[in-house]
Amino acid sequence: MNRSALIAVAVLAALALGLGGRYFISGGSDDQNTSGTPVKTSALVGGPFAMVDHDGTQVTQADYAGRFMIVYFGYTFCPDVCPLGLQIIGEALDMFVEKGGDLKRIAPLFVTVDPERDTPEILKEYLSNFHPGFRGLSGSIEQLTQTAKAYRVYYAKVKDETSSAEYLMDHTAITYLMGPDGGYVGHFGHNVTPEAMAERLLKTVK
Ligand code: NI
Repeated sequence: MNRSALIAVAVLAALALGLGGRYFISGGSDDQNTSGTPVKTSALVGGPFAMVDHDGTQVTQADYAGRFMIVYFGYTFCPDVCPLGLQIIGEALDMFVEKGGDLKRIAPLFVTVDPERDTPEILKEYLSNFHPGFRGLSGSIEQLTQTAKAYRVYYAKVKDETSSAEYLMDHTAITYLMGPDGGYVGHFGHNVTPEAMAERLLKTVK
């Protein structure tokens, strides 16, 4: 390869990295950007959705307008990741309130990626184990598809060869923090501590 070809490859690689940074959010790292300045991903996460909340009411993003939203996608049969994630959010919300935060400013939403099994009733019962503020969102497959697309969330059924009735779901485990206008504010990875999440909420939610 001659010199100009090498330079061309380097430029292409840099472009690819730049695009990668713009279009993908890492699931593993915590976004510690507390300045409130939207990152380049901001316009690409969030948007209109229509779901059924855990009391059986049709809801859209407009029902949460004016409040911050904590948005977590998962499912109630999840053996470990979701319970831990919900526990962290629940503890963070308690810390937030203990330190003077106003819980009415936040809508903590758990969106099921398994609406076939997670009916509103099951969601309501399940979420009561974690925090009374949680709202569970279920709905049709079409509604979930739209919402997951808006939030750039991946999910897929994992077939169990030994049983047709039981299955697991692969899914993105990112906790999104959305602003009162429904726009992306930040996100937390699955290894965030309740303390760090509470701190972030206290700084951001006014
Ligand atoms: Ni899970």
